[in-house]
Amino acid sequence: MNDQPRDPLLLDHEADGIKELDNNLPRWWVWLFYLSIAFAVFYMAYYHVFRKGDLQISAFDKEWAIGEKIKSDAIGKFEANLTSLTPSKDPDVLAQGLQTYTTSCAPCHRPDGGGQVGPNLCDDYWGHGSNYVDTVKTIITGVPEKGMLTWRGVLKPSEIQSVASYIFTLRGTSPPNPKPREDQAPKDTGPNPFE
Ligand code: HEC
Repeated sequence: MNDQPRDPLLLDHEADGIKELDNNLPRWWVWLFYLSIAFAVFYMAYYHVFRKGDLQISAFDKEWAIGEKIKSDAIGKFEANLTSLTPSKDPDVLAQGLQTYTTSCAPCHRPDGGGQVGPNLCDDYWGHGSNYVDTVKTIITGVPEKGMLTWRGVLKPSEIQSVASYIFTLRGTSPPNPKPREDQAPKDTGPNPFE
């Protein structure tokens, strides 16, 4: 039935009526293919044989170290000038302080500062010094053995300054059900469940 001349490019296999034409690939495509082979050879030699370049992990490690150095230099400079620091009253600084407090501190010190895991920050009793510089130092170094996190390298100096200033505004407020001072906490006299 088929009296049409056979296409010379037509290959003689067929699957469910689908036939294949043996077209030449476009030149640009073929060149791209050769180029990518050449690139792969150089890439392999450069990164894996002669180990000249940084692979992802070491590139990341180097950048990470640079970032850490920037952070520790910044906090070091901040610490060197701590003694002249005073709490800020600037509403913008306090607003940023409230934001940092809400995300980083409120889970332990309660949103109103009344204390939960961490102590009450509103009363006049301070375990680590009550002046502003002491507070800033406590925030920077933390008290890891007691559960107060170290914020060095986590918060920027400006964030530490603003959150410490914000805490200062909590002083003298009286939130409901504040956490009692440790030495005033009611003694538990019930039966010991572990006995
Ligand atoms: C994982 C819980 C936790 C988080 C989060 C936390 N704290 Fe604390 N914080 C504590 C504990 C516990 C103490 C008490 C340490 C001690 O008894 O020596 C404390 C103590 C403090 C003190 C000293 C209080 C005193 O009596 O001298 C300050 C100031 C303070 N935290 C500020 C902050 C700030 C600011 C943040 C947020 C950037 C923060 N804390 C986040 C648990 C936490």
